[in-house]
Amino acid sequence: MANLFESVQLGSFVLANRVFMAPLTRTRADADGVPGELAATYYAQRASAGLIVTEATQISPMGKGYINTPGIHSPQQVRAWSRIVESVHKSGGRIFLQLWHVGRISHRSLLPNDAQPVAPSAIRANSQIVQRLMPLGCPGTGGMVSVVGSHPTCTSWVRTIRSCSGFCATPNRTSPRSAT
Ligand SMILES: Cc1cc2nc3c(=O)[nH]c(=O)nc-3n(C[C@H](O)[C@H](O)[C@H](O)COP(=O)(O)O)c2cc1C
Repeated sequence: MANLFESVQLGSFVLANRVFMAPLTRTRADADGVPGELAATYYAQRASAGLIVTEATQISPMGKGYINTPGIHSPQQVRAWSRIVESVHKSGGRIFLQLWHVGRISHRSLLPNDAQPVAPSAIRANSQIVQRLMPLGCPGTGGMVSVVGSHPTCTSWVRTIRSCSGFCATPNRTSPRSAT
């Protein structure tokens, strides 16, 4: 049986050992979804794992579902991730980025122009998310709020992801399901 500390081939990568770091959302990116120096230090400190899988990272502004999660859709975010990857490589590690689009598990307060979340269907999730602090009087002030109804963009998930960037420029959408 292979030893945990033996190297392993994963596709074209030779990994130093079989210890993989699971993706862990840190919510430490800035308001524009740019991961900072802290993230470079955090991942480099863990470079002795055979493979690091990063925290989930949104592929579009419409894919965000938690405060201060990083993205990989703007040049600033791409530059920041490049710095992180460099620090991990310098420390001898390997790192894969976990991509996500949260679909309906989101809230208008996290999305561009208070947009309604987009997802494969309009069925509202029985779930809550942590949003940014809202002015007094808003529902769920300062913490957990129920997710809002989503706007079905298309029938297939892949097409939903592709269409997301277009939604950022779309004015607020209203529907009977959109109450917060
Ligand atoms: C704080 C926290 C953040 C997490 N973030 C992610 C994430 O970004 N992506 C993901 O796929 N799983 C995420 N997970 C799930 C973990 O990667 C892991 O699968 C889960 O904790 C189960 O592993 P365990 O049984 O060893 O705890 C997160 C878990 C925790 C506790």
